[in-house]
Amino acid sequence: MELYKEAVAQCLVAPLGEPVEKVMTMLRLPPEPEMGDYAFPCFPLAKTWKQAPQQIASRLAEEVVVQTPIASVQANGPYLNFTIADDILSQEVISGILAAGDDYGCGDEGHGHKVVIDYSAPNIAKELLFHHIRSTMIGHALIQILRARSYTVVSDNHLGDWGTPFGLLIAAYDRFGWDDQAGVEDIVQLNALYVRASAEAKTDPSFAQEGRQWFQRLEAGDPDARARWQWFVEVSLAEFQKVYDLLGVSFDYMLGESDYEPYLDDTVSLLEAKQVLSESEGALVVDLEAYDMPPFLVKKQDGTTLYGTRDLSTALYRHREWQFDTCLYVVDMGQSLHFKQLFQALKLAGQTWAASCHHIPFGLVLQKDAETGKWTKGSTRRGNASLLKTVLEDAIAMARQKIAESNPDLPNPDDVARQVGVGAVVFNDLRHRRVRDVKFDREAILNPHGETGPYMQYAHARCASVLAAAGLTPGEGVDYTQLREPEERALIRKLAAYPSVVAEAAREWEPSIIAQYLLDVAAEFNRYWARGNKDHTLRILRQDEPASTAARVALTAALRVVLRNGLHLLGVPTPDAM
Ligand code: ARG
Repeated sequence: MELYKEAVAQCLVAPLGEPVEKVMTMLRLPPEPEMGDYAFPCFPLAKTWKQAPQQIASRLAEEVVVQTPIASVQANGPYLNFTIADDILSQEVISGILAAGDDYGCGDEGHGHKVVIDYSAPNIAKELLFHHIRSTMIGHALIQILRARSYTVVSDNHLGDWGTPFGLLIAAYDRFGWDDQAGVEDIVQLNALYVRASAEAKTDPSFAQEGRQWFQRLEAGDPDARARWQWFVEVSLAEFQKVYDLLGVSFDYMLGESDYEPYLDDTVSLLEAKQVLSESEGALVVDLEAYDMPPFLVKKQDGTTLYGTRDLSTALYRHREWQFDTCLYVVDMGQSLHFKQLFQALKLAGQTWAASCHHIPFGLVLQKDAETGKWTKGSTRRGNASLLKTVLEDAIAMARQKIAESNPDLPNPDDVARQVGVGAVVFNDLRHRRVRDVKFDREAILNPHGETGPYMQYAHARCASVLAAAGLTPGEGVDYTQLREPEERALIRKLAAYPSVVAEAAREWEPSIIAQYLLDVAAEFNRYWARGNKDHTLRILRQDEPASTAARVALTAALRVVLRNGLHLLGVPTPDAM
């Protein structure tokens, strides 16, 4: 909570003889609600005041003049604790939230700052595997979070659509043909061809050679090679789009590695001009020994370019065309070295802005092995990597089943099942700090009592149903002194913190900060709700008490805004009933 911080600091200005700005930086948020809303630690004064911090706190407690909006000041050991008047705080927080609505949580510190986000970035000719959820949804959440804080964001799906694998794929198509199997989707056949091509290249050098030649032809703009490649891209994109639609993700740009083909020569020339290229076994590299890194490969012996070359061109292009202030690469941790090399190579080539490029790494997705019970990362080779589409469809089907059992009269069960299934998978992905591995247990993610998407969605739906039943306009004619229960005070203070939570998530590029906060809010709300079930006087809607009902309805409406806005930033849908 940052509300009234200045007012609190103001009453310390005279006793401390320090300007208000300075005092504001000294104030802390107390860890426990009983310690008030702000704490002033007295340790820093001990030396100059030649007194123990405890004594200073007692002395200040007497000197400070309490006035609105502050309700009380208390010495608490070496701290001075300030409490804001409940009714003033409630009114300010709740009416502020209701007035802001969808904009609550937005801020303007990102104004005039442009961020490019490179995310999702799957490879063409392969299906989206479960692990692709990570880059896709972390990237999506960061975009939403940064936009909420007024950053200008350019989102770019850096498709892997270029390189020797595509030469191999064309070679395989040429050799083995495409036997259109009835009932088998193109993407499945393409994927199978890709697997066959990679296997064949390992055992048959002549095939590998053919693949390299095809890629050279592709790079040279050969129309045959191009046409086939184009078709591979189309088949894949059509498939990717289905999954992106399900996840509710879209991109400003979907520039593939191939799109940088026209700039590769210039990139190599730039590196040459800056004298950062050297030859190594016939290949061109940027030597990074001085930085304790292996050389960064720019051109292979056969003159073809690589993933890294295209990343150099991509970064240069983005900086030139979009003039970003920051460029974020949301890519798994396994590529950390690649990005260190990339950024270092750019710096060596005189691109000082490379210091504004950051790798945003994340951990693996682990699935429980049915036989051993161990958590493992699926592998395409062993054939136990799940498709993202399958995981989502499975979660949706399970959610549908639950609805059929527990809420058979729900008017739009298929829509809600989709929202709940997808929300469960997404929330599970964003719940913990992104560098941690995600454990995926298909039963657990749908458990409405666990720290799950459905748990959050239930809290939101509960608010929605209370509001519908209330039949009031929330916030109208409210007497805020009615909100004096400890749960209410705690909830209101949590809701007040939401904008600073979003700001922190934007600063740290960490969606889980919002997820953890929302879990906290939902838990607090559930405690409140549970007490209302036991004790009639604590119920939100009470026919015998219109004043308390109006105040609690306003609180519920504010709560709903926070849950909805927060889940929206994470890409978790919020059905009104489930
Ligand atoms: N397509 C790559 C892969 O699947 C990820 C690309 C990430 N972005 C980038 N600019 N390198 O590994």
